[in-house]
Parts: sequence; structure tokens; C-alpha cells
Amino acid sequence: MMAPQLIVTADAAQLAERAADFIVEVGAAAVRDRGRFTIALAGGSTPAATYAALAGRTGIDWGATHVFLGDERMVPADDPASNFGLARRTLLDHGPVPPEQVHPVRTDLSPAAAAVDYAARMAVAFEVPSDGPPPRFDLVLLGLGVDGHTASLFPHAAATEESRAWVTWSPPGRLPPPVDRVTVTFPTLNAARQVVFLVSGSGKASALRQVLSAPPDPSARPASGVRPTDGAVAWLIDESAASLLAGDSAGN
Ligand code: 6PG
Repeated sequence: MMAPQLIVTADAAQLAERAADFIVEVGAAAVRDRGRFTIALAGGSTPAATYAALAGRTGIDWGATHVFLGDERMVPADDPASNFGLARRTLLDHGPVPPEQVHPVRTDLSPAAAAVDYAARMAVAFEVPSDGPPPRFDLVLLGLGVDGHTASLFPHAAATEESRAWVTWSPPGRLPPPVDRVTVTFPTLNAARQVVFLVSGSGKASALRQVLSAPPDPSARPASGVRPTDGAVAWLIDESAASLLAGDSAGN
């Protein structure tokens, strides 16, 4: 795996702008090289500013873009906790992605059935066999929890052990909201061409230092298990989140 790229911005606002630029760059290259752009969006609250900045950008062929969620809370789309709801409000309602190319998780199903359904829809969208290797997203956006989780791969959860399914489900971790989740698994994350973590705020500084400095431990610190076999990882972090990183790993 290539060494991760660290990009440190002065604050959260600049993180959002830099992340939007990064996404446009990856998207334009994907459409140029492969005729479409496949992206898995991160949940939580950090990406909201990035999605809002992205909504105002030109340079992405939205008509060639296919949008999935890296994970979802098992709540209706109009629930404030919905990751799809966040993406819709901040980005998808403003960027003309054809509706048939926007793929929310079916939160009307049971978590287990929703995970099976989501993987099957990925296979169709990527035009790959559902029993083969995971689809290769051009870009996967991820956040980092203060406990080192990413997507809905929580520390010591069974989902972190999943080595075959592309998508699985998980009971809630110790962080809110206390709802079941559907999440992509490490096989899918590690098949990606490009992963971008978005990390903001001093509250993430300790988790970020552990994930970047300690030996990888996908069970204890799931974000450290994101090591694409043929892809790149970029950490877009603001100075507050980077405050505990040693000089050599504090990025450019
Ligand atoms: C989720 C997210 C999760 C999130 C981190 C960081 O559904 O909870 O996908 O992985 O990215 O918990 O969340 P914040 O950006 O809100 O700190």
C-alpha cells in the first residue's frame, strides 16, 4: 500500500473547500479514464460542509456520476440521523445526478436484508458478478470516530471481521446514534482506487494520532484497517485534528 497522503488545512472551512477540489479532481479523472465516476459518500456531520462546497463546483460530470453511501443508519431518510438525508440536503438536491444513479440504502428492510440488497444493487450498478471480488469505487469518502471507527465499522465489532461480503450490518457502536447500521466492509473499502478521510476538530486529534502512528489494528482501530491493495489514501485534516501529530506525520 502506498503511504497515505496528509493534507492539513487551517480550519474546517478550508478543509471543506480542499476536499471539494479533491473530489472534483478524482471525478474528472474517472470520467475521462473510465466514462463514469463512482463515489461512496461518508456519513456523520463532518462531510456536510464538503458536500455543500461540492454542490457549487463545476468540473464534475454529474450525469456520469453514481452515488452510494459508505454506511447508513437504519432510520428513514427524513430522520436527522440519516446519512442519505444529509447527502440529499447538502449535495444531491443541488447536483443533477440522475435519480437512477443515486443509491440510498433501503432502510425499510431489516439491517441484514438491507445489506444483502445493497450489495446486489452495487453489483448491478458496477456491472460485476455479485459473487466475485468487490466493486472498485473511484472514490470512497470516510470519517473518523473518536473511537477510531470508520463507516460503521466499530471497534471489536463483528463487521470488522467480515472478509467476504461487500456490505454487512452492525448493531450500534458506543457512539450515538444508537441505531443499527448498514456498512461497506473492509474488502470493499480496500478495493477502492482512492479513499479520502475527512477529519476535523481537536476532538479527533487523539484518535487520528493513534490511527496514523500506532501499528494497524483493524479490530481495535477500524480506520487503520483501510489499506487499499491497489489504491491511495488521503487524509484531509484541519489543524485542530492534526494538533497531536508529530512533525514528520503532520503532512503538507
Ligand atoms: C456514521 C459515519 C461515521 C462518521 C464518524 C465521524 O454513520 O456515523 O459514517 O463513520 O464518519 O462517526 O462522524 P462526525 O463527522 O460526525 O464526527
